[in-house]
Amino acid sequence: MSHEKEYIRGLRDVAACETHLSFVDPLGALYYVGYDIDRLLGRVCYEEIIHLLLFRKLPDEMELNGIRQKLISEMKIPNQIIQSIRESPEGVHPMELLRTAISQLGEYDDEPYDESYSDAANLNRALSLIAKVPTLVAAIYRVRNKKEIVHPKEEYSFAENFLYIFRGKPADQEEKEAIERYMILHADHGLNASTFAARVSASTLSDMYSAVTSAVGTLKGKLHGGASERVMDMLLNVDDLHEVEDYIQGMLFDGKKIMGFGHRIYVSNDPRSRHLRIISKAVCQRINRMDLYQKCKKIQTIVIKEKKIYPNVDFYAAIVLNALDIPKQFFTLFFASSRITGWVTHILEQYSDSVLLRPTSRYIGSYGTKFVPIDKR
Ligand code: COA
Repeated sequence: MSHEKEYIRGLRDVAACETHLSFVDPLGALYYVGYDIDRLLGRVCYEEIIHLLLFRKLPDEMELNGIRQKLISEMKIPNQIIQSIRESPEGVHPMELLRTAISQLGEYDDEPYDESYSDAANLNRALSLIAKVPTLVAAIYRVRNKKEIVHPKEEYSFAENFLYIFRGKPADQEEKEAIERYMILHADHGLNASTFAARVSASTLSDMYSAVTSAVGTLKGKLHGGASERVMDMLLNVDDLHEVEDYIQGMLFDGKKIMGFGHRIYVSNDPRSRHLRIISKAVCQRINRMDLYQKCKKIQTIVIKEKKIYPNVDFYAAIVLNALDIPKQFFTLFFASSRITGWVTHILEQYSDSVLLRPTSRYIGSYGTKFVPIDKR
């Protein structure tokens, strides 16, 4: 019996697959299919990033129009799912409703469950999921708040439509830019935990809906996408800028983690956080909530000074979404609505590699335990 397996706690630095999609540089850069996001942001729209990740090339004008139209035409979700959201128990976190709704989408796929998984069918499913997840998120919000369902407009970009169908009012130019950039920055990020979960499911040749459901359940955790909702809780817990120092020092003293800080790969700045900080400043200014921005800046200064730990994507994202009028319970759902692009493109990549992702464990239990019959235990 071998129990001398090499054990890598948390799979830190283990490369579990190869990818063409994104590269997370520990020194603080992020590349989508070779393009530095610093060069892309502000120059492309979210649909171009979808095209880039799906087809590994930026679209020309015709391709962009094509993918935009395709996405809008795929946004509609089955009425039965809206009904099921309506009938869900009160008080359930919306992230749980999203997890269930994505799983349910699989039941309404036009093409029946198909063991052969043709590439064309899977590409269609990928586009359909990228289009439908934001619609599910908007439906969860609107049904729960007894608001009418709002339908997307042909003339809007995809990100703009998402904000529109969620809030029920058109975004202005600044909001449009903020949501566009937010979605681009959240689209993909190497083999993060939820993407890994998606790839593990896909590696068993399970269907795309199952793989995405695994990913949503993984994103939900507060060490991953669930962090930004907790960032907002923290900001609301501190009434005044002057209380920030004591509050954060107290948390650090108690050995608690500050949500929105730290990263498995980046050793210093997370480039996404750098961009989100700039966006957050602009959107907080326009709604007169610079107090939130100032609190964030102060927390950042203290945590870097005390722990040399830097803000991650979830930190400034919280006040960006808050300024766009998104309730904090929906922050992780907005993350999922963008990361769905990364998930499905990784799932397609995993299908094309077709190797079972199945590590091993190092057994540290006992051996030779004496069996005792049930009446003698
Ligand atoms: N606040 C305070 N201390 C933190 C911290 C945080 N946010 N993140 C990490 N640390 C500390 C840990 O306590 C640990 O200290 P120790 O060595 O004295 O025990 C050290 O830094 C290493 O952290 P660890 O949790 O082992 O790193 P990891 O690579 O396993 O975890 C995260 C990465 C993201 C899970 C972790 O930084 C974290 O929990 N962050 C808060 C949640 C969050 O924002 N998640 C979103 C990620 S995008």
